Amino acid sequence: MDSFLIRGGNRLKGKIEISGSKNSALPILAACLLAEGKTTLHSVPRLSDIDSMNKLMGELGCHIYRHESADSRVNGPALNGPLDITVTDESKIEARYDIVKTMRASICVLGPLLAKRGKGVVSIPGGCNIGDRPVDLHVRGLQKLGAEFHTENGNIVGEVRGRLKGCRMYLGGAQGPTVLGTINVMCAAALAEGETVIVGAACEPEVTDCAQMLIKMGAKISGHGTPEIKIEGVDKLTGCEHRIIPDRIECGTFMIAAAITNGELELKHCNLDHLVAVVDRLEEVGVNIARENGTIFVNSSRRLTPVEMTTQPYPGFPTDCQAQLMALLCLADGISVITERIFPDRFLHVGELNRMGGRIRKEGPTAIIQGVKDLHGAPVMASDLRASAALVLAGLVAKGQTRIDRVYHIDRGYEKIEQKLAAVGADIERVKEAKAAA
Ligand code: EPU
Repeated sequence: MDSFLIRGGNRLKGKIEISGSKNSALPILAACLLAEGKTTLHSVPRLSDIDSMNKLMGELGCHIYRHESADSRVNGPALNGPLDITVTDESKIEARYDIVKTMRASICVLGPLLAKRGKGVVSIPGGCNIGDRPVDLHVRGLQKLGAEFHTENGNIVGEVRGRLKGCRMYLGGAQGPTVLGTINVMCAAALAEGETVIVGAACEPEVTDCAQMLIKMGAKISGHGTPEIKIEGVDKLTGCEHRIIPDRIECGTFMIAAAITNGELELKHCNLDHLVAVVDRLEEVGVNIARENGTIFVNSSRRLTPVEMTTQPYPGFPTDCQAQLMALLCLADGISVITERIFPDRFLHVGELNRMGGRIRKEGPTAIIQGVKDLHGAPVMASDLRASAALVLAGLVAKGQTRIDRVYHIDRGYEKIEQKLAAVGADIERVKEAKAAA
């Protein structure tokens, strides 16, 4: 298990290239199960979650090949060539617990398996450290298309008699729309008989990205990016070529890295249109953000103003940037309030930030953050992907050394984060367990 050692206090300055979106690439890979022939995906980030999804796709009868062409979209010598996915065996239908437990996005193979192979078995994802994450809406949406389900040995077993049939359905839940649930049902409906209308669909850019790839494969989809998606089922989808959108959460994280270190960063290959709510909150805090084509320039005024923020479905402030904003607000001049509406228990970073000198109090789904003058380095524990990112940000500005253990969490979703940060002046190093403990 690797750790990060960060000696805080350096102002970050320079350019960082944003990778392709993890949360777009994962369901898009699953959607490749729907197509005949080869699909080529560009800008698939090199992450452990992507490795897990590739492994699952391999077990489901796909041949995966990563081209070794150097791609300048990541700093350093990383090889990030396109990924070819070809379905070669349609007899496999099971996503095993060993893979599902490490990556919940595995549930996204269920819709494609049912639509294309008539049967799908996916292990029920268990508990998750950002809170309860049921998959009832995925199952309900697929049931409405005619799939039948039962559970067996901890698995969801789905079957289709004949072909899925399109219908009009409401897919919202108590916490609002579901991103991966919308994608799962949209993928299944693409090969269903007749028209499906998903009302209460998620509007996140990752849903739109997947819809755009399906359209290239021959699907008839409209309304993606709005709460009502219309899908006219087709008989067949064919492999295509597609570039994954830039990772808006990685981009938001580096914007906050510039702000928290009072630095100046140029973030390349981003889509600021996907980050309107994040920009709104950061500007309120006192961060300066300018855009020129696909590049974002970020720097910060020394005084950080406290703000209130509530996470919401897109286009609201994303839950996946909540922890990172909290790290920044620890240093604001006054009291900030953050309310988490998507995953009300997603606050494991609070205790760790407090170990670094933060003054945060949690009350139900709300955190009250009393700004402090300085954070101090400390040994802390990464607990989930975005919580880990918050600890890295805090470590960049903390006085002294911060050791973050269990950084495998961060490797799930940030491509070479330590290399990207070191290239713009951060003092950060990846160490193996023994050295970290020394
Ligand atoms: N929900 C249900 N039933 C369901 C599905 C969801 O009640 O069947 C609830 C969830 O518990 C939550 C809300 O609906 O309260 C929204 O969850 P959603 O389904 O939208 O989350 P997801 O699709 O499973 C994706 C991202 C998450 C991100 C959320 C919200 C991927 C692989 N994951 O998860 O990303 O936080 O959308 O935007 O795309 C991350 O990258 O760190 C991460 C956790």
